[in-house]
Amino acid sequence: MSIVISDTNIKTINLIYSKSLIFFSKFVKIKVMKTNILGLPIKETELLVLELNILLSNFQVYYQNLRGIHWNIRGKRFFDLHVKFEELYTDAQIKIDLIAERVLTIGGTPLHTFEDYIKNNQIVVGKNISNDEKAVHLIVTSLSHLLKIEREILSKAAAINDEGTNSMMSDLIAEQEKTIWMMRAWLEESL
Ligand SMILES: [Fe+2]
Repeated sequence: MSIVISDTNIKTINLIYSKSLIFFSKFVKIKVMKTNILGLPIKETELLVLELNILLSNFQVYYQNLRGIHWNIRGKRFFDLHVKFEELYTDAQIKIDLIAERVLTIGGTPLHTFEDYIKNNQIVVGKNISNDEKAVHLIVTSLSHLLKIEREILSKAAAINDEGTNSMMSDLIAEQEKTIWMMRAWLEESL
């Protein structure tokens, strides 16, 4: 079967088509999403870099909190806690490196000065803490705040299918939740 369309018909079809396009474009904005080499949307990824740098800054303050309690802890549980806090800050140092390198991987520049870290910090800064319970409390509150930032990043990364950042946040969240449980068990607190 064949359909014969005359020149006049084609002109009419074209006219209707272009008029409907003009009509359609008044109501619907057509967005072209630009992506980077990883296939991630450029604008949203830049926002993610900002959030990851905030996490990096807060992690650095958490790290310094751990160094402080590792050095200043006193009392009958000194030997246990001194070692435990060293274990935690060594782990935090690895996480800090991973976050900074994720920033670079998705095209950003990681913050690296104390000035920027202090500017972005939202967690409590522990100073001269030598009491064991206060030290463990400081860990719980620091981690609790890091969790909030990580959950925020997780949802934004999920929205743009950034699986690399997403899985990194999932791992951090699961580990930190477990550490909070153990610290609170030590404090004999219930969840
Ligand atoms: Fe040490």
